[in-house]
Amino acid sequence: MSNVHPYVGRAHPRVDGALKVTGRAKYAAEFFADGMVYAAAVPSTIAKGRIVSIDLSTAKGAPGVIDILTHENRPELPDSDKPYLNDMVAVPGSPFRPLYNDRIFYSGQAIALVVADTHENARHAASLVTATYEAKRPTVDVAEARHEAYDTFEPRDGIPPPPPPRGDAEATFKGSDIKLSESYRVAPEHHNPMELMATTVVWEGDGALTIHTKTQGVNNPKMYICAVLGLDPDKVRVTSPFVGGAFGMALRPHYDLLLATMAALKHERSVRLVLTRGQMYTMGWRPDTLQTVSLSAQDDGTLTSIAHHAIQATSRYEDYQEPTVNWSGLLYACPNVTLKYELAKIDVSTPSDMRAPGAALGLYALEVAMDEMSYRLGMNPLELRLKNYAEKDQNDDKPFSSKELKAAYEKGAERFGWSNRSPEPRSMRDGKELVGLGMATGCWEAMMMPHSACATLSADGKLKVACGTADIGTGTYTILAQIAADAFDLDIEDVTTEVGDTDLPMAPPEGGSWGAASAGNAVRVACAELKKELLTLARGIDDSPLANASLDHVAFSNGRISLVSDGERSVSYADAIAASGGGEVKAEGSFAPDEEFAEKFAAFTHSAVFAEVRVDEQLGVVRVTHIVSAIAAGKILNLATARSQILGGVVMGMGMALHEETMWDKTLGRVVNANLGEYHMPAHADVQNIDVIFVEEDDKANPLGIKGLGEIGIVGAAAAIANAVFHATGKRVRELPITIDKLL
Ligand code: MOS
Repeated sequence: MSNVHPYVGRAHPRVDGALKVTGRAKYAAEFFADGMVYAAAVPSTIAKGRIVSIDLSTAKGAPGVIDILTHENRPELPDSDKPYLNDMVAVPGSPFRPLYNDRIFYSGQAIALVVADTHENARHAASLVTATYEAKRPTVDVAEARHEAYDTFEPRDGIPPPPPPRGDAEATFKGSDIKLSESYRVAPEHHNPMELMATTVVWEGDGALTIHTKTQGVNNPKMYICAVLGLDPDKVRVTSPFVGGAFGMALRPHYDLLLATMAALKHERSVRLVLTRGQMYTMGWRPDTLQTVSLSAQDDGTLTSIAHHAIQATSRYEDYQEPTVNWSGLLYACPNVTLKYELAKIDVSTPSDMRAPGAALGLYALEVAMDEMSYRLGMNPLELRLKNYAEKDQNDDKPFSSKELKAAYEKGAERFGWSNRSPEPRSMRDGKELVGLGMATGCWEAMMMPHSACATLSADGKLKVACGTADIGTGTYTILAQIAADAFDLDIEDVTTEVGDTDLPMAPPEGGSWGAASAGNAVRVACAELKKELLTLARGIDDSPLANASLDHVAFSNGRISLVSDGERSVSYADAIAASGGGEVKAEGSFAPDEEFAEKFAAFTHSAVFAEVRVDEQLGVVRVTHIVSAIAAGKILNLATARSQILGGVVMGMGMALHEETMWDKTLGRVVNANLGEYHMPAHADVQNIDVIFVEEDDKANPLGIKGLGEIGIVGAAAAIANAVFHATGKRVRELPITIDKLL
């Protein structure tokens, strides 16, 4: 690889790509240890009620079985919620406690843990465990629970409740001639990452544990497991160097962690627990959501009122929340806005964040309602958006730190050929297919979190940067290497990145699209600290040519620290390091978001999504033939990994629009399509031409101008496709996914 600076801003290939494609990248279930045994969790067959008895007799006699843990014979667990609340992503309520007692909250809840000599023997024995239950009829449909919806919950940390009403949306709506009020439903979804939830606990002897677990941030499972099992944090190390997709599901610790660790401690040996694909549907999911959006407008398209109401499913035991309706107070200029958000309890596991939690759902509803309004007005949908363009965040009454959404609309429309759209529904056709063009807007918050990092330069010219964040597939390894390589003008091949280990500097879970801005700036600071150290060392060398040089007057390039005004006066990195008396110099740095800036400015990313669909008139089959996603998201660090993030988000939006739906049997309360055969996700054949555009956006919320990209790609994608389906067919389907049966 050539040493071409700056690396930041280029399309540099993933630095971990070779490890991944050659199978050398190790995931949680791929770590081995001598004497390791294997565990399997036994799922409950009811969704609600109590366990009366568990019959282990057959399972205990199965080959290779070492132990079977149940709520009756397990080691002691804390009898209060408090230790379990050591979860940085906990939500209000009473956290789920695996194998705690006889109570069943959802179908598939682990009722026993089999430990055996092999994975296969553990799985087999698990299938032989039977139980009798006192079962109650579950409710698994938010529509059935909506009459018990409530908004009296304690707000979730970091999730702002809807802002108070402004103006009078109800009266304005009543007095308007041009208005609509429609209800929308998005089917519940599961994240379905390729990698299964898994924990390998390595018994290091003397009570010390190394835990390899699938997580979006190693510090969270460490804090949780130490609190719940009363472990000494100094004796527990958690790693997760690679994550095979998570999309939010690995933000919170799940039952694989507690059960595997409990078994390892009891048997004083290494244990691996991998959940089954079916068990991937027994935890966090994108909640079943009912929404109503009411809009009114003047003849010219000026919005006069917006009302947005959502009822979202949560579990019996926790009040999981998303900022679902808040976006409707933000995206368009409007003086009269009422936003209402409620929860309804059903007999399922607690939902969890899933790529753009709240926004993916709420902006689907708003952006379809806006499309409906455009037809009511006889106005181009894009013109309607531009007419109501918001120049400030009206929820918080703040200017934006930057907002190049107009440029995204313009560039996206141009690339897509939006001007070729004929206004009438069903007016475009190609052979037996109806052609539809639709668009929508997306928005996501540009968040940052405190992160620390370290940077180590060795005498052989190799730089190592490290941060306890995670690379959940987004490209974190690569962007951190790019930032570090630029700081010291090194070839990126001479830079290594480490993440996903509790031995590394502190970082919270990677989520909310805050990873790049937070870890990126932490690495920037660590590199700046390291430069200071090196300069101090260089100045201290006998007769140093840099004796009086200050940081502002030197450059770090070509392996040397040189005076900018006189390049002849320089000290090599190697000589500076040698002056330390060791073979390397290390520095740590921390980054925290600028609170003063955040007080003054609102920071968001935006997207303009354009979709072309072709609908077979006889068969109702929808093909998404072209998507343009134009993104305004601050500085783009790596055009290749950034594009991949948006592509992935768009494909997930296609799934939301046309394919994905977790189906619970209403009597059993069980997910009936808990496998990748019957839970439909877009396959390669479903994905055609997707264009990603990044518009220039200069942002000052952090020194690198980074806003984050993990989530914005999905927001607006489902709405653009749904709007294109309407334009093609003239049929407005307000329930996602838009499957064939709904179109015929
Ligand atoms: Mo994201 S849903 O915060 O992993």
